[in-house]
Parts: sequence; C-alpha cells; structure tokens
Amino acid sequence: MASRAHRAIWQPDELVSIVERMGSMRIVRVGFAIIVMGFGALAPRMLAEPLSTLSWVTGSYLLLLLVPEVARNLRRKNLLPVLAATLLLDGLYLGWVMYATGGAQSPLRFLVYIHVVAVTLLASYRTGLKIAAWHSLLFFVVFYAESASIIAVRETILSALPGRGGDFYLVSMLYVAGLWAVALGTAMFSAVIERELRNQKIDLEAHADMVAEIDRKESARAIPDVLLAKVCHVFGFRRGAVLTAPGDDIELAAYRGPDQGAQIPAGLDPVMERAWDHRTTVLVRGIDPSTDPRLAALFPDGHNLIIVPLFLDRGTRLGLLVLEHPGNRGYVKRWVVRMIEQFASHAALALHNAWLMDELAAKLEENKGLRADLMANNLALQVKVEERTQELRESLEELRQVDHQRRRLLSRLLNAEEDERRRIAGDIHDGPVQEMLALGMQLHHMGLTTPDRPMQDSLEAIRSGVDGAVEGLRDLVFDLRPVILDHAGLEPALRQYAGTLDGGLSAAVESRLKRDVPSEAAIILYRIAQEALANVRKHAKASRVTILLDEREGGFLVQVQDNGIGFSPPTGLHSVPGHLGLSSMRERAEMAGGWCTVRSLPRGGTAVEAWVPATVGAAPVAQLSGRHQSMLVQNGGNGSQLADAKAS
Ligand SMILES: Nc1ncnc2c1ncn2[C@@H]1O[C@H](COP(=O)(O)OP(=O)(O)O)[C@@H](O)[C@H]1O
Ligand SMILES: [Mg+2]
Repeated sequence: MASRAHRAIWQPDELVSIVERMGSMRIVRVGFAIIVMGFGALAPRMLAEPLSTLSWVTGSYLLLLLVPEVARNLRRKNLLPVLAATLLLDGLYLGWVMYATGGAQSPLRFLVYIHVVAVTLLASYRTGLKIAAWHSLLFFVVFYAESASIIAVRETILSALPGRGGDFYLVSMLYVAGLWAVALGTAMFSAVIERELRNQKIDLEAHADMVAEIDRKESARAIPDVLLAKVCHVFGFRRGAVLTAPGDDIELAAYRGPDQGAQIPAGLDPVMERAWDHRTTVLVRGIDPSTDPRLAALFPDGHNLIIVPLFLDRGTRLGLLVLEHPGNRGYVKRWVVRMIEQFASHAALALHNAWLMDELAAKLEENKGLRADLMANNLALQVKVEERTQELRESLEELRQVDHQRRRLLSRLLNAEEDERRRIAGDIHDGPVQEMLALGMQLHHMGLTTPDRPMQDSLEAIRSGVDGAVEGLRDLVFDLRPVILDHAGLEPALRQYAGTLDGGLSAAVESRLKRDVPSEAAIILYRIAQEALANVRKHAKASRVTILLDEREGGFLVQVQDNGIGFSPPTGLHSVPGHLGLSSMRERAEMAGGWCTVRSLPRGGTAVEAWVPATVGAAPVAQLSGRHQSMLVQNGGNGSQLADAKAS
C-alpha cells in the first residue's frame, strides 16, 4: 500500500540474527569443501593441480574460516568486517577451485552460483550483488592471466572439446552473464521477501505500540480512538469507525471520515449481524442504504468496507470495527486482514476490561457515597443520642430531687404523725389516766368510809367503771405509741401486739435478727406489720398468721403471712377510696427508701413483705430507675398474683 513509504528506515540485520546467518554459511562452506574434495577424489584426471594441493588449500580455507568462529564473541561492530573478510575468502577459495578444476569451463562453476545465492539470501541482496562483482573480478583476473599466458591454460576434458578458441570466450561470457542473472534474480526475490517480512514486522511493531498505548489509557472511551487511529495510520485507511455495544444497542465510539458529527440510527444493520453471527471479518464491496442504513450514514458512497467484529472468546459481542479500503482494488491482502483482526481482538479485550473497570469504579464510587452518607447519618444520630442522653440525665436529676423532696415531706409528715401520737399518748397517760386513777382511789376511800351499804355498792360499781375506762385509755395509749417498742425493740413489740389479736387467730412471731433494729426503721416496720395484721384480722378469715423478721441486703424485712382467703392486690398497691391501708404500707416503706409487696399465695392466704434500709431514707437514689421502681401484677400458676410497690 502506498502509505508504507513513510515506514521506519530499514536496518540490514533486523530480520535474521547474525549468529544464525553465520551458522547457515558454515554449512554452505562445509558443503563446498565436501563437493570439492569429492570431485577431486572421483575425477582426479580433471584436476589441474594435484589432489594433495587441493586438500591443503581446502584445509587452509576451513582453518581460516575458524577465525570468525573464535571472533564470535566480538562486538557486533567488530564482527561485521570479519564476516565480510570471510565472504571475500570464500571468493578466493572458489576462484582457485575454478582454476584448479578447469578454469572458465570448470564443472564446479555452479559453486560460485550457490555462493552468490546463499549470500544474497542469508545476508542481503546488496551483499549478494557485491559478492557477484567480487567473483566476476576474480574470474576476469584469471581469464586475463590465462589469455596473457601469465598462468598456464589447463588442459581438461572440457577444454579439449572441439572449438576451444572462440568458444572459450563465449563460454566465459556466458558464465559471467549467468552469474549475474542468478545474482540479480536472487536479489530481486530476496528484496521482495525482505520487504514483505519487514512490512509484517513493522505491522507487528505497530500492534505492540497500540497494545502499549491502550494499556496506558485509563478510560474505556479512549480505546476505540486508539484502535481506529492506529489501524488507519498503519494500513493507510482514510475512513473508518468503531461501533461499540456496551448495552443492547450500538453506538458510535470513534469515527474517522468526512462527516465528523455522524450519527447513526438505532438498531443493527444486517451486515453487522452477519459479522457477529459468523464471527468473521466481512468484506463489502458497496453499501445499499436501504438494507444497511447505519453504515450508509457513516460512509456515504462507501465501497470496499472491511467489517471486523469485536468480541470476546466466550462470545460476548462488544462492537465492530469498520474500515474503508481507499483503493479501487477489490481485494485486501490476507496478511492485512489478519493484522487488523489482531488489532481488533486486542482492543476488544482491553475495551471489555476497561468497561469492567469502569463498572467497578462506579460501584466503588457509589459505595463511597453510601459510606459517607452512613457516616454523616451516624454522626447526626450520635449527636441526637448525646442530646437525648443529656436531656434524660437532666430529667433524672430533676426526678431525683423531686423524689428526695417528696420523701423528706413524707418522712416529716410521718414523723409529725408519730410525734403527735406520742404526745397525745403521753398527755392521755399523764392527764386523764392519772386523774381517773386518782378518782378511782378516792371512790375506793369513799366506799371504805361510808357505812351505807347500798352507797358502798354504787361507789364500787363506779370505781370498776373508772378502772375499765383507765384500761381502755391504756389500750389507746398503747395503740398510739407502744412504749415497749422504744424500750425493748421491734420483736417484743410485735409479740405484744400479736397477743392482743382475737382468740380465734393464732399468731407466731419468728425473728432472725442478729442486731437491734434502729428506732426509725423499727417504727416503720411496726406500723406496716400492724396494718397487715389488722387486715388479716378484718378480711382474711385466717386461722393462723406468722410474722417473720429478717435482715436482708443491708436492711430489715418484715413478713406477715396468713392462711386466709387471699385477694387480688391492686396494681402498685394504690388504694381505692376509703381503704387506705395498702397504700399507707407502701408509702411508709418508700418513704424510708424501701419497698413493700403484697402477694396472694398459691395455696391460699396472703403474704405482705416490707423492707427498709438500716439507715432510713439513705438508700441510693439511683435505684429509682432500677428494679425497685417496678410495680407489677403477675398471674402465675394457681392464680397467684403479685403486686409490687417497690421504691427506693
Ligand atoms: N390479708 C388479707 N386477706 C384478705 N383480704 C385482704 C387482706 N388484706 C387486705 N385485703 C383486702 O384489701 C382491701 C383493702 O385493704 P386496705 O387498703 O387495708 O383497706 P381496709 O382495710 O380499710 O379495707 C380490703 O378491703 C380487703 O378486701
Ligand atoms: Mg386495712
């Protein structure tokens, strides 16, 4: 193709390595020696020199040829003159062989032809022509020496043939002409072959270039451009296009031609389908716009189109490379088509990889975005959580303070109540009780001093009435404030209270206490037990009640358990109007930083449990949000129910 003129400057040694060529020449030379020695042995009569001379000349020739073998490790620059010298040596040897075997008419003249052919093919046609000139020169020297009788004309079979004089010149001329015909013919052949090889080598280099260039490109978009530019540049196409099919439809990825803004209609031309279906390059002489509208749009008046499918091994269609052959010739060299296919298949692979990479990069980008979003959301969430936590902390603190205040108020209230009860009890004991006792004494004295019998009986009746009233006041005083609690402690106080219960109910008090209950805790537990026992007496219809005192978790526990009818305690022990017992128990316990539960027992009966810390009111406020805050009602196995009013 015309455009190849611009190609790289030829380097004489680039096709076959110098070492390879030396090896081939060695074989040719050894062949020469064998033929010459064989000829000498088989036809000694035709020799103008004795066989021994032939032998040592041949021997010396072979020995001299060992020099380039030794010099093989020389640098290339130094090796070339040595090789040229061996070629000249070949000429000298063959010239002498000619001389020794019949001169111009030697039957071994063909060795010279072989030498020229071998040099032309193995070195270059230029060297071949030079060697032909060298042989001609040697021949003319010998010819001149013979004709001038400087050296003797050898008598051989051939030279003994008739017509020796004029024919001798003719034969000599014919020999030289033959030599040149062989030299030129081989040179032409070799030049053509060499040119072809060199072109192919350049094409391969261009292919390697394109591969490197594509590898340097990062985006899939650039690959079709590189492919088209390279193919057009190397093979001299002026119009071409790369169509790609990343999705279902085909799109124009690179274009080279008159209509740079070319657009193609959607869909596929039949000829494109054909290239894909058969997976071969399709050559089209002309385009019919009615059947192939897309190609016709890209290449108006297009002819000699080469359509190369781009696909992967496993059949994925990637696109098409379309080129327009600029010449009018209706054929394209097979090598060119093969090379274009090579270019196309490499580009297809690269394109596919680039698409995959693009896809991957897009996914990565998307992931990155998602991660950023996630992190932003996380941060916002964290801030919100932080805010909420802070708010909660503040609320909790407020709640704590409120609870503390509430407890202090309650405690003050209950203390005031206890103080009031104690004061009233003291007042009754010191006032009315003493006065009535004194009154009783006076009545007794009056009875003793009066002689009137009926009067005595009346006074005695009044006195026993006064005694009964004093007993009643004493009970009231005990109820208001059991003095025994202050003097003897919780257990004796409860025993005494249990002793006052009605006769039908047997009460047992058990204590597991190992130390005295502080008076504040004791009065609270006493009041709770008092209310629980009152409830047993009033509602339970029980025959037995047990009171247990125990130490637990750094505080004190009282349990009142009866075997009565049981009941469903209200949630959180919140009382109904008019019935304040249950809630007062709960409030007393809570006020002290403890808790109170009322359980209906599985086998019937009720258990009231109250716990208060040893130091009343000192329980950590944090427990407010903990387990003691729970107020639950449970429906268990045999209808057992539990209402917790635990509070810290
Ligand atoms: N040990 C118990 N056995 C059965 N029922 C009980 C017991 N304790 C309390 N109750 C029931 O719980 C109700 C509420 O008790 P309470 O709050 O002390 O009020 P009150 O004793 O004034 O009725 C009682 O009316 C009773 O029905
Ligand atoms: Mg009650």
